[in-house]
Amino acid sequence: MRGIVLAGGLGSRLFPLTKVTNKHLLPVYDRPMVFYPIECLKNAGVVDVLLVTGGTSAGDFMRLLGDGRDFGLRSITYAYQEGEGGIADALRLAEPFAAGERIIVVLGDNIIQGNVRASAEAFARQPRGARIVIKRVPDPERFGVPVFDGERIVGIEEKPQQPRSPYAVTGIYFYDNHVFELIRGLKPSARGEYEISDVNNAYLARDALCHDVLEGWWTDAGTFESLLRAGRLVAETGANHVDGPLDGHGESE
Ligand code: DAU
Repeated sequence: MRGIVLAGGLGSRLFPLTKVTNKHLLPVYDRPMVFYPIECLKNAGVVDVLLVTGGTSAGDFMRLLGDGRDFGLRSITYAYQEGEGGIADALRLAEPFAAGERIIVVLGDNIIQGNVRASAEAFARQPRGARIVIKRVPDPERFGVPVFDGERIVGIEEKPQQPRSPYAVTGIYFYDNHVFELIRGLKPSARGEYEISDVNNAYLARDALCHDVLEGWWTDAGTFESLLRAGRLVAETGANHVDGPLDGHGESE
C-alpha cells in the first residue's frame, strides 16, 4: 500500500500565519505539522510516500523532508497542486504514483494520538472499496459527518449546519484503485472544491465503504483553536503511539 500526504491549499483560516509559508510547515509543539501525518503513514506500514503541496513554499518541503531517510522511509516523491481545487483535486495528482496499488491518504493537518495499523490490516482483508476512520467530536459541523442507519453509514454530509451524528470523518482514508476514476466523475461543490466527501459517497453508492472508530485523540490543526489544541495534546501525551493501550485522554472535547 502506498501513502499520500495532502499538504496543498492556502491555509486561509490561519492567515496571517500562512501569509509567507505553508500551513503544514508551521510548528505543532516541537515539530513541523507535516511530520505527524508522515509518521502516521509510516506506522501504518507505508514505505513509499507522495507529498502533494502547492503555493510558494513547495521547495521548503524538499529541504525539510529530503529523501525521507530520516523518517525511515524508502522514498518521498513530491507533486505540485496548481490552485486550491479541493482535497479530491489534490488526490487526483497521485494517480501515477499509486500505479494501480491501493493507497492510504492522510490530510496534512491531521494528527492522531495512536495509529491506524488495525484499519490498514482490515483494509488489506477487504476485497474492494474504501475505508474511512471516524471519531466522536463535540463540533461535528466543522467536518464531514456520517449519517447512520443503525450501525451502517448511509451518507456523508460535508459541514452540515445540523449534524445528523456526533461523529467526524477524519482525514485518514483508504482507497482501492478505483478512486481516480471516481474523482474524474466528480463535480465541484457549492464552495467550488472537489470534495473528498463526494468520493466517499461515490463508494457508498457502490456499497463499498467500510469504517472504523478511531481510538485515542484526533485533531486537525487548520484553525487557531485547533492548532493550539494540537500543540497542547502533543505536548501532554505525544502523538503517533505505536503500541500500548490508549485511554482516550484528551479527546477532542
Ligand atoms: O480534517 C478532516 C476534515 O478535512 C474532514 O472531516 C472533511 O470532510 C474534509 O473536507 C476536510 O475538511 P477541511 O475543511 O478541514 O479541509 P481543509 O480545506 O482544511 O483541507 C484539509 C487538508 O487538505 C489541508 O491541510 C491540505 C489538504 N488540501 C486541501 C485543499 C482545499 C489540499 O492538499 N489541497 C486543497 O486544495
